[in-house]
Amino acid sequence: MNTPTFRTAVVRVPNGPDSIEVIEVPVVDPGPGQVRVAIAAATVNPTDLGVAAGFFHSIGLVDQPEHTGLGWEFAGVVDASGPGADLAVGTRVAGLVVGFDRNYGTYAEQIVVAATDVVPVPDELDLLAAATVPLNGLAAAQVVDLLGDAPAGAARLLVTGAAGAVGANVAVLARERGWQVTGLARTGDEGFVRGLGADFTAHAEPEWDAVVDPAQLNEEALGLVRDGGAYVGLRPGLEPPAERGISVASVVTGFDSARLADLLIRTASGELPARVHAVVPLDQAAEAHRATAKGGLRGRYVVCP
Ligand SMILES: NC(=O)c1ccc[n+]([C@@H]2O[C@H](COP(=O)([O-])OP(=O)(O)OC[C@H]3O[C@@H](n4cnc5c(N)ncnc54)[C@H](OP(=O)(O)O)[C@@H]3O)[C@@H](O)[C@H]2O)c1
Repeated sequence: MNTPTFRTAVVRVPNGPDSIEVIEVPVVDPGPGQVRVAIAAATVNPTDLGVAAGFFHSIGLVDQPEHTGLGWEFAGVVDASGPGADLAVGTRVAGLVVGFDRNYGTYAEQIVVAATDVVPVPDELDLLAAATVPLNGLAAAQVVDLLGDAPAGAARLLVTGAAGAVGANVAVLARERGWQVTGLARTGDEGFVRGLGADFTAHAEPEWDAVVDPAQLNEEALGLVRDGGAYVGLRPGLEPPAERGISVASVVTGFDSARLADLLIRTASGELPARVHAVVPLDQAAEAHRATAKGGLRGRYVVCP
């Protein structure tokens, strides 16, 4: 009897979008505490472009013998439940697989994960939008954890790239911790940024109490922080060197099921933004990477395997 297989997009020798190929790998049954999810949507994120380009291989974070998987976040439907897994077949779920060193990722027809690594998707939220929440929503929430509550009298926060997936969520979540948020974004993003409840600038002047830097302006963004203020980046280990008494921190996004459940509920209610630019089949993942690399998208490409 033939072993059943499923399709997944991987890179063997990472060299950008041209190196992405779709392969067949054996179907795996979920073990104790695990579920198998039929993936309906997997989001194309900047991180995936770094994997396909070999950046994370070059800094020693990937050591796969044959091929490296793409994709971290996903939404789909539980299609098999292992012993002791507390999720029924048919449950709509979203999840995040953290880490670069994997032989396949979420650009796949299915994935086996711990049942505790996915959370149910509210009925009101479609799976395409849900797939865009785990990585960027959790990153934003954990950036805001690093910022903490706004200090009294020193609450001016600049969010670079506020029209992007992480920045837009930070803009909303940081306000709830008392920050007066201004989003730095392109001129055409003014309406979107103001719609998040933030002020808007296309050209930031210095002297912010804190800067969060999803646009990865790095030293330029650090230069906008006042002496003794705070900088929070998204490139762990590659943050600009601290200066002038500024605290410098970077987020390393981790899975947090309670947090993700809350983010999904708030996305479903429209409190948090989730934008899908386009939906493509698995064998067009390379095209989605090329388009994402050009920049200027508002919303994500989502791969529907
Ligand atoms: N450390 C972690 O755990 C973690 C987790 C999630 C994400 N990340 C990283 O965080 C970064 C942001 O992710 P994202 O998903 O938010 O990316 P994104 O959706 O592409 O957003 C970035 C935004 O920044 C804008 N931008 C870039 N340069 C700008 C400038 N000079 N002025 C104004 N706006 C500018 C971009 O506009 P244009 O498109 O017009 O250039 C875009 O709207 C990525 O590098 C990602 O890899 C890290």
